Amino acid sequence: MPLVPMRQLLDEAATGGYGVAALNVNNMEQIQAIMEAAVETGSPAIIQASRGARQYSNDNYLRHLILAAAELHPEIPLAMHQDHGNSPETCISAIDQGFTSVMMDGSLMPDGKTVATYEYNVETTRQVVEYAHARGVTVEGELGTLGGIEDGHGSGQTHLTDPAQAEEFVARTGVDALAVAIGTSHGAYKFTQKPTGDVLAMKIIEEIHRRLPNTHMVMHGSSSVPPELIEIINRYGGKMKPSFGVPVEEIQRGIKHGVRKINVDTDNRLAITGAIRKVFVETPEKFDPRDYLKPARAAMQEVCRARMIAFGQAGHAKDFKPMTLAEMKAVYAKQK
Ligand code: G3H
Ligand code: 13P
Ligand code: ZN
Repeated sequence: MPLVPMRQLLDEAATGGYGVAALNVNNMEQIQAIMEAAVETGSPAIIQASRGARQYSNDNYLRHLILAAAELHPEIPLAMHQDHGNSPETCISAIDQGFTSVMMDGSLMPDGKTVATYEYNVETTRQVVEYAHARGVTVEGELGTLGGIEDGHGSGQTHLTDPAQAEEFVARTGVDALAVAIGTSHGAYKFTQKPTGDVLAMKIIEEIHRRLPNTHMVMHGSSSVPPELIEIINRYGGKMKPSFGVPVEEIQRGIKHGVRKINVDTDNRLAITGAIRKVFVETPEKFDPRDYLKPARAAMQEVCRARMIAFGQAGHAKDFKPMTLAEMKAVYAKQK
């Protein structure tokens, strides 16, 4: 099956009242883990690659690996998404590489650190929408900034999304999906205690949904950082500090109020690292990469499976006939 436009997956999720996990990848094992979890649960799937992932794996490897996943599993509607595109050029290169969806993150300047002006965000996002929709490709924009700096990404400042501005932003840019800042951040160290309504502003999601009932919202920084995964890493020689992520029940609350795409990367990184450390410590004589990559892949599959069930996408893979980019292009052309 050809890769499907992400917009269709999100529209279907809205109709069915569920959310779809958007899972980051950098290599073959991560792609396999997601696909196996999707097959196991009968889920539509979103595989996303950051700019760093595209550099690490090289676009050609990545494209062919994801196309192989689609070819091997025609029963799974699969979208390939550029995560945190830092400029129109990055998004355009992704579209030219066959991504069926891109995020133009105009909340930050192209350095991925400096907070951008609202007008810059509107203008760059609008440009990407124009290019993408003419090719049937989906666009996610972001308004507000996440907290934290992880691997050099992020401004370190949190600017929660203003619901009134969100309404204007969607109207001026024509984005298919809107990433909102509600107090989450990327990486393992999000909160020092279980987040309450003061630090995790689910109210903003409810208010945006009230104003924009037909806009698909995206939650970034949505790993739950399960203590058991941190514990495995530390049991086998890791040195991770205690931390709290986004509770799955808060994400489920978001899904009730228009959240359709939930970005999860860190939880899979934790699962992979714990599994590899365990093999290294328990069987230090082993040196075949398959001996530790297999359990790593299985550990990631388990996280993906759990999220697909919790977000409600399980069982929805066969609900609809997947659209081609050409069909989606025709839909956008009619809306103009
Ligand atoms: O944006 C955050 C994702 O977890 C991707 O991270 O930029 O280190 O690949 P990355
Ligand atoms: P986590 O670091 O919480 O997994 O967030 C991932 C993300 O938002 C990717 O864009
Ligand atoms: Zn993100």
